[in-house]
Amino acid sequence: MNEKILPFPEGFIWGAATSSFQTEGETVPTDWSYWQGLPGRIKDGTTAKKAVEGYLRYEEDFRMIASMGHNGYRFSVEWARIEPEEGVFDDEVLEHYGRMLLSLRAKNIEPVLTLNHFTLPLWFFKKGGWENPNSVDLFTRFVQKVASRYADQVRYWITLNEPAVYIFQSYLVGVWPSPEGATSLSKGLGAFRNMVLAHRAAYFTLHQICKESRVGVAHHMKRFLPFDENSFEDRMIVQTQEYLLNDLFLEILFQERILFPVGGGEPFSEKGDTLDFIGLNYYTGQKSKFDLQDIPTVFSRPYPIQKEPEYSDLGWEIYPEGLFYFLDLLSRRYKKPIMITENGIADKEDLKRPAYILRHLGEVFRAIQGGAEVLGYLHWSLMDNFEWAEGLTPRFGLVEVDYTTQERLPRKSAYLLQEICKRNAITQETVESYAPAIARNYFENFSGPH
Ligand code: FCB
Repeated sequence: MNEKILPFPEGFIWGAATSSFQTEGETVPTDWSYWQGLPGRIKDGTTAKKAVEGYLRYEEDFRMIASMGHNGYRFSVEWARIEPEEGVFDDEVLEHYGRMLLSLRAKNIEPVLTLNHFTLPLWFFKKGGWENPNSVDLFTRFVQKVASRYADQVRYWITLNEPAVYIFQSYLVGVWPSPEGATSLSKGLGAFRNMVLAHRAAYFTLHQICKESRVGVAHHMKRFLPFDENSFEDRMIVQTQEYLLNDLFLEILFQERILFPVGGGEPFSEKGDTLDFIGLNYYTGQKSKFDLQDIPTVFSRPYPIQKEPEYSDLGWEIYPEGLFYFLDLLSRRYKKPIMITENGIADKEDLKRPAYILRHLGEVFRAIQGGAEVLGYLHWSLMDNFEWAEGLTPRFGLVEVDYTTQERLPRKSAYLLQEICKRNAITQETVESYAPAIARNYFENFSGPH
């Protein structure tokens, strides 16, 4: 009998993702280096001061990536390192990131470079961060610098990471830094507007400087379903969450108008949808129940989607079907290629991650069969790292890091992804050896109609 197999498209990008602040160590002055120093802001009291020393150890880490058969790697440059003072650019730092890019290229690993992954230079933050109308020009000048430097090295660019999540956490919930340290919907909307404009300006700048570049945004999407299908309030709450968190940023770009509540529908002066591909960050889903008391979560209380839900160490429900849902939705709605720029699980013991990866990749395969153009899959994360307000406790890595010795210890999941990358396919043997509990109907589930 033939071995069952899910083959992926030729040239599919396989790899992992990280961000500068979460991994680099030797932190420079940013909003987060300030924030992590405030009492009580990081749940477990840890900081990113050392993190995984990624800035120093990149060569060793890239050799590991290459040995794992990855042909792609998403990471970010730290704006505050490159421009430590307003208008002052550090050449040595630009050289450093340049060496990182060359090292990846030498190993045939396609870099996917994020220009801004949440953290802001402290000087920029002190001027109001994204609330400042000048933020767009300041970011554009930084992008110009980076783009002209790496035009020959980088093809896939990510302008911003998860703008809606950033605004939500910083301005609505207040657990991430905002310039005044207080929640404010109107300030949040103003900052969101400038992030949209910053993305557009970066898109045009990148295309001017590197003609061949393909520019996207890393967009977070969470699956929301009503707690009670028959409840008008629950359905309204889900519509609101979908609109604000999942749809708004992309809709503004594709409709080329600043939609409510960020603006009043005014069109952009320059034409263009400014996305060559959509970067999708997908983790989880929830059912939402209307609850007036839960203001920061847009009046909703979360419930599990499934009857017997399984959770990550952070309590995020594992819901792979949501990934198919969004790949299918985005490709039909916008007809653009999609790159999965993040997908992963906090799972210290690596008990759930292998099945998590296989089930999500099964959904990716199913979406591709259905016509979605998926460029690649970048797992969050390559290694354990600093998980923002949660600190170092959650373990998202394919590779475990011992924070006292900085030793890298690949988890079983790293070997699983290695097999998949090397074959550009998921085989029966792989599923059986890494996740026997889901092996029985795995291929029937993902290759047939659903
Ligand atoms: C995403 C972030 C990433 C990481 C994962 C777990 O929202 O983009 O930096 O923290 O969540």
